[in-house]
Order: sequence, then structure tokens, then C-alpha cells
Amino acid sequence: MPDNTLRARDEAFWQTFADRYEVEPGPINLENGYFGRMSRTVVEEYQRNIELINRSNSVYVRQRFEQGDSLKIRAQLARLIGVSADSIALTRNATEGLQSLIRNYNLLQPGDQVLISDLEYDTVKGAMRWLARHRGVEVIEIEHTHPASYDSLLSTYRDAFIRYPRLKLMALTHVTHRTGLVMPVQAIAAAAREHGIDVILDGAHALGQIEFDLTELGIAFAGFNLHKWIGAPLTLGFIYIAPERLADIDPDMGEVHYPVTDIRARTSYSTPNIPALLTLPLVLEEHWAMGGAGAKGARLNYLRNRWVGAVRQLPGIEVMTPDDPRLYCGITSMRFSRHTDQQLMVERLLKEYNLFTVTRSGAACGPCIRITPGLITTADDIDALSKALTELR
Ligand SMILES: Cc1ncc(COP(=O)(O)O)c(C=O)c1O
Repeated sequence: MPDNTLRARDEAFWQTFADRYEVEPGPINLENGYFGRMSRTVVEEYQRNIELINRSNSVYVRQRFEQGDSLKIRAQLARLIGVSADSIALTRNATEGLQSLIRNYNLLQPGDQVLISDLEYDTVKGAMRWLARHRGVEVIEIEHTHPASYDSLLSTYRDAFIRYPRLKLMALTHVTHRTGLVMPVQAIAAAAREHGIDVILDGAHALGQIEFDLTELGIAFAGFNLHKWIGAPLTLGFIYIAPERLADIDPDMGEVHYPVTDIRARTSYSTPNIPALLTLPLVLEEHWAMGGAGAKGARLNYLRNRWVGAVRQLPGIEVMTPDDPRLYCGITSMRFSRHTDQQLMVERLLKEYNLFTVTRSGAACGPCIRITPGLITTADDIDALSKALTELR
């Protein structure tokens, strides 16, 4: 396999890769953080699977899918994050899995504290706040300093752990959807462990663009989806629970279809999108064949660095996400510091430059414009962005 950094800048290679995707004519899409495209071959496989399941109905599903295919798929997903298949349960998205982990974490007592930061995803924040009403815990909400550094992120958490001694549980977002900041998960989880605090990791944006090993990160509970950087059909996700911690998460709402020793009891039992699940083996084959998260992440970082390098020093532009290679990935946010309305600037980027981006608010560092290249974004697309930012500032 060629060196990822060298290949990241090989436009001819990425053009061949892009040729495997159908793209609707329209603006240059720099909002690939919502979900990723499926390749043409994946779309065809998905269509075949829809037809197969529609033709064969419950006969295939009861005889083949439940007993065979779904177990193989779990094993393949486990490989993605370097864990065993019995520590994986399928969900329909990241939110469903993360909320199930939060709702069913059974070590909280009234009066305990739980922690979230301004950079968590709203559905995770909502679930943590729900714990206050239903478990009698206090929700501690912290804000990260801006600009963030490796040390500032870690010390914000260390300070909180000392200041709030009744903390038992925290949410941590590996890659925040607001600015693309990558959290130093391993160091934060180690500090949390010293204070007896459990971490539930939101890996929605990390999976497929960052290489990581959950055991090395010291994470026992995590939720993911498969439609961002893995390239799977929509409606698929999964949770991870370290086998030795399974008893600390209750079966979901009295779930009884699986024994209490089976992680699958931790998610709601329902009819999944079976054709989408059956498509996963091909999705993962393509993911590994092109070099996995290492290759995808290197390309996305290259594209990110190309525009950030061109505009970071320009007056009137503030790039929110630091350049410490430990703290960024393909997603990065910026704002026009001489303009108050970032939404208006997003509209101008679209109208005047044909560039599709999105605003994000909710981070303590203020509203920003999120720029997310995708795997079929070209260096020319990025240069068009740099030119637009330079002119519009
Ligand atoms: C950081 C983060 N967490 C969680 C989610 C929710 O993912 P899903 O839509 O699969 O529930 C998202 C979606 O964008 C996200 O960016």
C-alpha cells in the first residue's frame, strides 16, 4: 500500500477514485460532514439487496440473516475498531446508541454529577440533561477555551475533575461537529479514570477518518454511525461496550430478546434496515481496499491544510481549529471576523462562488462556518474556496 501522505496529494489517483461516484450537478459540496456518498458499486449492491429482501421476505431474513449474515457483519464492524464481535451491537445511528448508553448507565446515584462541554453534539447533551431529571444527578457544563491547545483541553478537564468531586460520568466527542476539533481522548480518558469518572465516547465523526484503537484510548463505552466516513447506506450505527463493563449498562427498557449477558440487549429490539446491513460487507471491503481511515484521513487532512494554509494569516479570517496535528482532521471551521452574520457569508459563498458550506453555532468560541471536504473534493475545489475566502473577507 503506497504511503498515505504521498497519495493524499496525488490528484490523478483521487480522480480515479471520484469516478466511482455519481454526483448530481450543482454547487461544490464542502459540507460532507452530514453524511458521505456511497460509491456506485455500493448503491448497486444496496439496490440488489432491497430487491432480494423484498422478494424473499421473512424466509431469507429468518433463515439466513438473523443466524448468519448479521453475526458476520458484527465481526466485520468489530475489526473496524479493533475489538471483539461480542462487544458490538448494531443501532440505526450514533444518537440511538449513545442515548442508550447514557440512559442505561446504571452506576449513578442521586447527587452524583455528570459532565458535558460546549462541543458535544446536541442529542448527547440532551440525553445527559435528561439524566438530571430522571436520575437526580447534577449536570456540569463546561466551556473550552479558544483557541484550543492540547494542554488547554486537557487542563480544562483536569480542573473540572478537581472542582466537581462528585463527577461519575462524562460525554466526550472524539471529533466535534462544530469546529472539527479532535479531542486528546486518550489523555482525557486517563485523567478521568484517575478520578473514577467513566467516559462515553461519541465517535460519530472519528470513525473512518481517524485511525484509533479503543482499548489504547482507554474507552469502555462508545457510539458510532456508518454513514459519515465509512460510506455505508444511511440508517446504520453501532455501540461498543467493553465486555468487562457490560453489567454497568442495563438492558434497554427491560429488553428481553437477548440474555442479560449479550450486548445486543443494550439496544432497542426492532426491525433494522436489512438491505443496508447486507450491503455493509461490500462497503467495508471498499473501505479497506482503499487504505481505510489512514488513507481517507490523510487525503482529508491534505485538502484541509491546503485551504487553511492559504488563508489562516489573512486579516479578516479566523480559522477556529488549531494546526496541532493531534487536534485537527478534515473538518475545520472559520469565520469572517469583520462580518457579524456568518449565515449571510455562507449564502454569499453559495451565490457568488458556487460553494456549499454550513454555519455551526453552540460552541463557546462563537458561530462559525464549517468547511468539510469529501473524498471526491479536488485540489481545484479547495483553491476555489481559498480564493473566495480571500476575496470575501
Ligand atoms: C459528533 C456527532 N455526534 C453524533 C451525531 C449524530 O449522528 P447520527 O445522525 O448518526 O445520530 C453527529 C451527526 O452529525 C455528530 O456529528
